[in-house]
Amino acid sequence: MTHHDATHYDAIILGAGAAGLMCAATAGQRGRRVLLLDHLDRAGAKILISGGGRCNFTNLDGDKAERFLCANPHFARSALGRYGPADFLALIEAHGIAWHEKTLGQLFCDGSARQIVAMLLEECDKGEVDIRLSTRIAAVSKPDGNFAVETPRETFTAPRLIIATGGPSIPKMGATGFAYDVARRFGLKVVEPRPALVPLTLGPEDRLFESLSGVAVDSIAAHGRTTFREASLFTHRGLSGPAILQISSYWRKGEGITLDLLPDADAAALLIAAKKERPRAEPRTILAQHLPQRLAEAIAERLALAGRMADLPDRILAATGARLNAWPFVPTGSEGFAKAEVTIGGVDTAGLSQKTLEAGKVPGLHFIGEAVDVTGWLGGYNFQWAWASGVAAGQAL
Ligand code: FDA
Repeated sequence: MTHHDATHYDAIILGAGAAGLMCAATAGQRGRRVLLLDHLDRAGAKILISGGGRCNFTNLDGDKAERFLCANPHFARSALGRYGPADFLALIEAHGIAWHEKTLGQLFCDGSARQIVAMLLEECDKGEVDIRLSTRIAAVSKPDGNFAVETPRETFTAPRLIIATGGPSIPKMGATGFAYDVARRFGLKVVEPRPALVPLTLGPEDRLFESLSGVAVDSIAAHGRTTFREASLFTHRGLSGPAILQISSYWRKGEGITLDLLPDADAAALLIAAKKERPRAEPRTILAQHLPQRLAEAIAERLALAGRMADLPDRILAATGARLNAWPFVPTGSEGFAKAEVTIGGVDTAGLSQKTLEAGKVPGLHFIGEAVDVTGWLGGYNFQWAWASGVAAGQAL
């Protein structure tokens, strides 16, 4: 086979999302001849809808490996250490994109996520990356020293193949489990993929909360020793909001979580003091001083807190308070890949180099971005992993 033809490249990258674009730009600018393929008709589809259209493109703490879930907790450290939030911010600023910090170190565009995609395409252009969209990948193989990528029209070859096709979250946007198929085909292990950063559903015993759909409350969501203090939101089907999305990445079917609905107070002490100060007040009135009205009423009803504060023994108030500080839920499930912002699990990092994301068993084959078993917290961490892993592989091509 001759490799000087138009279908031969130094590297082929599958998936023109966050990681693939970053990797392509990095390798292209290092003088590599790069082909970037995607089955969708546009690049960076998830970037465009991210962060409510403003793209939470990184987090000031985005290089802290402990904010990422992975079977090997140290794996992400290397790539994140070499390309951190400050590096991506420098790129944003070089392109004159205005940004702001929203909360908890989360950085967003002032304008639109489209600016991020335009920036990445410009960077690819600088590297003369050959981008082909609306291209279905029919098969991937390694017949000789080169990888062969078959598309309906042509077969492309390269000594290096980078899989950047993400995870299966939000299939209606073109997300697939393609990366896992490729990994398994080449003998690599895949850590069971599960939906993460996803709303949780509640069963009939928690039906009461259905009436609260749309109510948000400042809370601490806890799963074991893992806690997140952010808003929780009651929905028709269960629970959502940032605190719940965060905890969903740690939760597994059958397990419980707790919600502290009064995170700044010792609720038992608060109720016992309220009984002394306002003995004639109704419990739900007292609760409504500290909680959204509808939630206060639902809780009073659920716990059968009738009558006046003076009627309730301290023992009941103490139990009520304990419950308010750690309301137990056993979610029946999650809203699944259809609603999951990311996929947890993925290509097992035990088979990959943490420096180059190359498969130890299959020289020249790299996996980057969400396809890999590295999942960030909510808040810009997942894009930071996409950028960092994309650069790490791009520098190795
Ligand atoms: P990504 O999904 O970006 O790209 C994969 C590419 O591969 C896609 O272009 C896809 O079309 C292509 N592809 C898939 N299968 C293929 C196949 N079989 N053949 C050819 N091409 C294929 N994160 C964050 O940090 N901040 C945020 O604000 C948000 N917001 C957000 C909102 C919503 C609604 C979602 C769903 C997700 C987020 N995320 C996020 C998560 C973030 O979008 C995600 O972690 C990154 O996009 C992952 O980047 P990748 O490049 O790995 O995959």
